[in-house]
Amino acid sequence: MDAPTPSRYAATYAAWKADPVGFWAEAAKAIDWFTPATKVFDPDQGAYGRWYVGATCNTCHNAVDRHAADHPDRTAVIYDSPVTGTKRTISYAELKDEVATFAAVLQDLGVGKGDRVIVYMPMVPEAMVAMLACARIGAVHSVVFGGFAAKELATRIDDCHPKVIVSASCGIEGARVIAYKPLLDGAIDLALSKPSACVILQRPQVEASLVAGRDHDWQGLVTHAKARGRQADCVAVAATDPLYVLYTSGTTGKPKGVVRDNGGHMVALAWSMTNLYGIAPGEVFWAASDVGWVVGHSYIVYAPLFIGATSILYEGKPVGTPDPGAYWRVIAEHGVKALFTAPTAFRAIKKEDPNAEHLKRYALAGFRTLFLAGERADPDTVLWAEKMLGVPVIDHWWQTESGWCMVGNPVGLGLLPVKPGSPTVPMPGYDVRVVDEAGHDMPARTMGSIVVRLPLPPGALPTLWQQDDRFKDGYLTQFPGFYSTSDAGFIDEDGYLYIMGRTDDIINVAGHRLSTGGMEEVLSAHPDVAECAVIGMADSLKGEVPCGFVVLKAGVNKEPAEIERELVALVRDKIGPVAAFKLAITVQRLPKTRSGKILRGTMKKIADGVEWSVPATIDDPAVLAEIEDALKLRRR
Ligand code: COA
Ligand code: AMP
Repeated sequence: MDAPTPSRYAATYAAWKADPVGFWAEAAKAIDWFTPATKVFDPDQGAYGRWYVGATCNTCHNAVDRHAADHPDRTAVIYDSPVTGTKRTISYAELKDEVATFAAVLQDLGVGKGDRVIVYMPMVPEAMVAMLACARIGAVHSVVFGGFAAKELATRIDDCHPKVIVSASCGIEGARVIAYKPLLDGAIDLALSKPSACVILQRPQVEASLVAGRDHDWQGLVTHAKARGRQADCVAVAATDPLYVLYTSGTTGKPKGVVRDNGGHMVALAWSMTNLYGIAPGEVFWAASDVGWVVGHSYIVYAPLFIGATSILYEGKPVGTPDPGAYWRVIAEHGVKALFTAPTAFRAIKKEDPNAEHLKRYALAGFRTLFLAGERADPDTVLWAEKMLGVPVIDHWWQTESGWCMVGNPVGLGLLPVKPGSPTVPMPGYDVRVVDEAGHDMPARTMGSIVVRLPLPPGALPTLWQQDDRFKDGYLTQFPGFYSTSDAGFIDEDGYLYIMGRTDDIINVAGHRLSTGGMEEVLSAHPDVAECAVIGMADSLKGEVPCGFVVLKAGVNKEPAEIERELVALVRDKIGPVAAFKLAITVQRLPKTRSGKILRGTMKKIADGVEWSVPATIDDPAVLAEIEDALKLRRR
């Protein structure tokens, strides 16, 4: 047997470190530019510098048009929807045709360069078409995940003021059809900013009613544009112009609009497809996520297309659509080379089919790698997947903010030894450190805050949408010269990073990032609640699930159980089903320090059933026993 080829990782990372600007100038050659950068990196622009300053380009041209010209018949997208029984293959030429037509539709609705368009859609090809159409005409898309409630959508409308909203009549969640239009109408009613038009894709499962003068039928507009031969060309934008705004949870109920630019995003994502994921043009890549999340933006919509690969758009679940063999079917049927999903999906499959019996029905011969991200990949799940699939299982760590992997195992450069529990090593562009509160490097295997030395590489966020100060205050101030990730962990003696948790109130529920602070805001708004605390409780399927403890106002004589039911409904209504908030527990008091700080950390340990001790600063230790009893009672 041949000895494995040594990884080119160390040399590549060293080359980046020695000459970061030269490294990213070289990587930029994978992209077609209308005019080249006058400065590959300008340290004097933006909060920490900007990439590819002076360059003009178009993201849609790089994702679609250049491939439609070079290999029009190659498959760009495979739409596989077990929930509707639909499969569709879209070539690069067809994708160009659809995107150019829909881009013209948007222009005819008054959308121009820099205007925002909200896309609130399920996993259908039209969601991708809408995003790429925005990119084509220089409009800024903001995709909102379908599992968010009307109020969350309204918050996003009021933050980015979209000229147009593109939506669909419904989404399909497993066996359930979820009407989107009432949520959209509710959000527009709640929002102060009103879009001038909405485009609604009518799906056969639900017919949405359209508001006269504001709402348009997708198919009607497209048919009309086609009849007139209307297509929009790719518009030149600055590399530093925004491509999209994607909202993610912050430490308050107000979401943060992560801005992604055009130039750096293309360079970083194209580099990652080749060097990290090890995918060649024409190969099939599948990110089993949702276009509403950053994974969906980067690795369903953009990155595979940047390199002329084929992307799978899967409208289904890992289990129940129809069985835990769903992923294996898609891999076998479409010749998937690499799958990227969240560990929770594999926990769901493992739970229903622990011996992977369903795997026996499929031939996965061409399948090379499984990538996991979005939450901690627990070693049990990694080892199970490795054993069942017989391929490397690669954990990698990133955030909505980074837009692509910060720490991973670069399969394309040559696999490094996998250590379950660690996402491996930093990617070029990322100088990742673990520091103490004063910003000093921690010794190996000692926990601290995970930070990244500035500047951030291409692809990472330059700022938050119209909140430059919040960006600086939230990410760049605590550790001067560094970007604070709000994750905590350690680095081992081989330079492998381990992510152990967040340093803020963000929790990760089935790979979805949620703010417990946001949930507390909702609970506090209930008229009977005096105070509350929401914690993330360990869950064998979803990683974490929220649990809310509430203290009722004096004199409330309603049954606590009734109030708890109302609280569960309230979070679903205000934040959305994706919050998976199912447990509210009434207690007499919350455990606090003498200075009045709620001891959420200790509450979490009690809820998780791990060893805990009474904090020295606690005001009244008896309260912790009350919390423990309340949890025991509820679990019975
Ligand atoms: N539109 C409307 N509702 C949605 C939705 C959408 N796009 N996505 C999720 N929801 C709803 C679900 O139906 C569920 O509602 P319920 O409380 O009535 O059951 C709720 O939001 C929670 O969803 P989820 O956390 O996804 O739980 P689930 O039990 O439906 O599925 C998994 C669990 C593990 C199967 C699923 O989360 C999964 O496939 N995750 C892996 C892939 C992934 O999406 N990763 C994201 C980042 S990479
Ligand atoms: P999101 O912005 O939704 O991608 O969530 C980012 C957060 O998810 C990170 O800050 C981490 O807390 C967590 N996360 C993402 N990937 C990993 C991983 N591979 N291991 C551990 N945590 C992760």
